[in-house]
Amino acid sequence: MSGVVPAVAQSMAPPGATACSGCHGPAAPSAAVPPLHGRPSGDIVAAMQDFRTGQRPATVMDRIARGFTDEEARAIASWLSQQR
Ligand code: HEC
Repeated sequence: MSGVVPAVAQSMAPPGATACSGCHGPAAPSAAVPPLHGRPSGDIVAAMQDFRTGQRPATVMDRIARGFTDEEARAIASWLSQQR
């Protein structure tokens, strides 16, 4: 991302991140799917790892988490944690 102003880079969603928002809306407290925006990135990364290894029970997130590498999950998590 050389040549991109950091502020702009931060507001751009990494690959895959917009797919999360389809289910994890920014503000839907009553939904079965918890919102991820503004959550600590470490929590999101840890949850993704647990979903992937099957340590955490899931209906759909186990399959979704397997589609992302740790690196991708970290990029998505840090972007989500900066969203309000
Ligand atoms: C098809 C809908 C769907 C999509 C797309 C989706 N999720 Fe989820 N997510 C869920 C559901 C449903 C749960 C609750 C656990 C379960 O049943 O699998 C969940 C749970 C989570 C949790 C745990 C939250 C908590 O507080 O318990 C995290 C973290 C998470 N998802 C991250 C992501 C990320 C990152 C993406 C994008 C790469 C994503 N999800 C895409 C449906 C989705």
